[in-house]
Amino acid sequence: MCGIVGYVGHQAAGPILLEGLQRLEYRGYDSSGIAVLDHDGALSVMKREGKLRDLQAAIERMPGGATGIGHTRWATHGQPSDRNAHPHASSSGDVIVVQNGIVENYRELKAELQERLDAEGRSWQSDTDTEVIPELISRELAAGKSFGDALASAIGRLRGANAIAAVHRGSPNRIYAARKGSAGGIVIGYGDGEMFVASDLPALLPHTTSVYHLEDGEIAAIDPESVTIRGQGGTQFQPEPTQVDLDPVAIARGPFRHFMLKEIHEQPRALSDTIRGRARLEPASALPDDLDLPTETLASIERVLVIGMGTSLHAAMIGRWWIEQIAGIPADFDNASEFRFRAPLLGPSTLVVAVTQSGETIDTLGAMNHVRDRWGAPQVVITNVDGSEATRQADTSIIIRCGPEVGVASTKTFVGSLAALYLLACRIGHAQGRLSTEALSKRLEQLLTAPSLLERGIGQAARCAQIAQLFGAASNFLVLGRGIEYPLAMEAALKCKEISYVHAEGYAAGEMKHGPIALLDQGFPVIALAPRGPLFDKMTSTIQQVRARRAPVIAVGDEGDAELAELVDHFIAVPPAPPLLTPFSLTPVVQLLAYQLALTRGLDIDQPRNLAKTVTVE
Ligand code: M6R
Repeated sequence: MCGIVGYVGHQAAGPILLEGLQRLEYRGYDSSGIAVLDHDGALSVMKREGKLRDLQAAIERMPGGATGIGHTRWATHGQPSDRNAHPHASSSGDVIVVQNGIVENYRELKAELQERLDAEGRSWQSDTDTEVIPELISRELAAGKSFGDALASAIGRLRGANAIAAVHRGSPNRIYAARKGSAGGIVIGYGDGEMFVASDLPALLPHTTSVYHLEDGEIAAIDPESVTIRGQGGTQFQPEPTQVDLDPVAIARGPFRHFMLKEIHEQPRALSDTIRGRARLEPASALPDDLDLPTETLASIERVLVIGMGTSLHAAMIGRWWIEQIAGIPADFDNASEFRFRAPLLGPSTLVVAVTQSGETIDTLGAMNHVRDRWGAPQVVITNVDGSEATRQADTSIIIRCGPEVGVASTKTFVGSLAALYLLACRIGHAQGRLSTEALSKRLEQLLTAPSLLERGIGQAARCAQIAQLFGAASNFLVLGRGIEYPLAMEAALKCKEISYVHAEGYAAGEMKHGPIALLDQGFPVIALAPRGPLFDKMTSTIQQVRARRAPVIAVGDEGDAELAELVDHFIAVPPAPPLLTPFSLTPVVQLLAYQLALTRGLDIDQPRNLAKTVTVE
């Protein structure tokens, strides 16, 4: 949540900061701002409520300067407005800060600082928690500390996870960055006589692939030619940058109208990349090189718990199904934000699998922390971001290799996570001796057909557009699925809510009679996920019950299923898939339906209101 950028070097900082913010806008987009310092310490700050384009025009009139910081905001404290947009300044005006995170004790700190402000006849300039940070730094400076010491003392006073970038009028050729806890990370990019700072790699890639990820508790003083880190305990060192292997083209929208559409189309490739080298047929083995867990550990696991949030939670629900069916051991899923506030009983023979595309979701990290501190159970993370906080916390990671996902709605990382969960279920089943080598080989062969199932599902784009045209004005949808399709019904409803702003509920089809059926009438469309499989007959009974209430039914079923097509009002055909693989054939259709609904309604698909790509605050 919130994107931070910084630049120090020999070029005009404004355009570089703006371009970086454009690449981070998926992290928050209700307001933005930049601060630029010239060599003499003259400071200009420009901030605007609204999208970055609103800031862009204002920046063109800004004085130049080769040092600066910028921010794109997802509001936590104080509504979106020019006043609450970052950067925030100390009341003295010489310390400027941008922040990602929450200062949990800001009320206490504000109260403490209030007396001094009153005495000086000054007042707070915003409703944010952030503003206490420059004020605290400024007080420490006034007490005679160096900026580095003042920043360290101020950060020491903050409760909560925070990532910060700062500039000081007294040091016009330097920016500072600091990280405390898991607030979404800070990466420093090394250029030639210039340095860059960003919350995430996409903002750095056009400039450099040589980077250093700030660790928890570190503060960096960044000059055009060098970086000095002050570690926990005050030790100082110059970090060694590492090379990242990411193609800048991966973060370009190309010919697609939206990143979401591009990423839906990338799914067959993304899934192939996830399973490359991990689904070996001769001899059969799943995830041969990834899991840094002894085979004995995998063999002795008695239960698996899969956790996540949002779309990753839906992947976890499907993962639970596969672990039970393929590995043959007890499995559960849990919403990470609820899990640690119950009294879950795990024990060391439970394997915890955390699913998080970003690897930075605070609820999931909180649950992982709880598992480590309370139970010491082994943990695997399934994530798209190597080096993310979740990979540091877990015992071992499966990186899904989907490439950067820019659209706020998760799409390709959902199928990548699914593939990783399927492979994990195979690996556990084989290690436990419950899945013979022959059966493993069959399961893996089936998985290898998944990219083509996705491809053919994507082929239904035009049909999804027709259906969206017909139902573009509907205010509600019920999405029904059974068995392994139930989590997909929930995912379909989530996609409709988040990008189309349509009220949609995903339900287990069998649950419909127990209440939701009361909602149904001619104006309440029902989407039924109904591929042929063991529960098909039960699903068609539910469809009959819906039709008896005159609600229009849109069924997603197997190609050539004339009986189902006849039964419903509208039919979308997907390729027939083996029973455990229907998530791959159905996923593109549920994504495209939501996408097309949003398009029909003229909505901002890649940046839906109120959302941020990575949720780093509670
Ligand atoms: O990065 P994560 O997978 O941990 O993110 C979890 C959710 O915030 C995320 O899936 C969210 O629900 C997406 N907007 C769904 O499209």
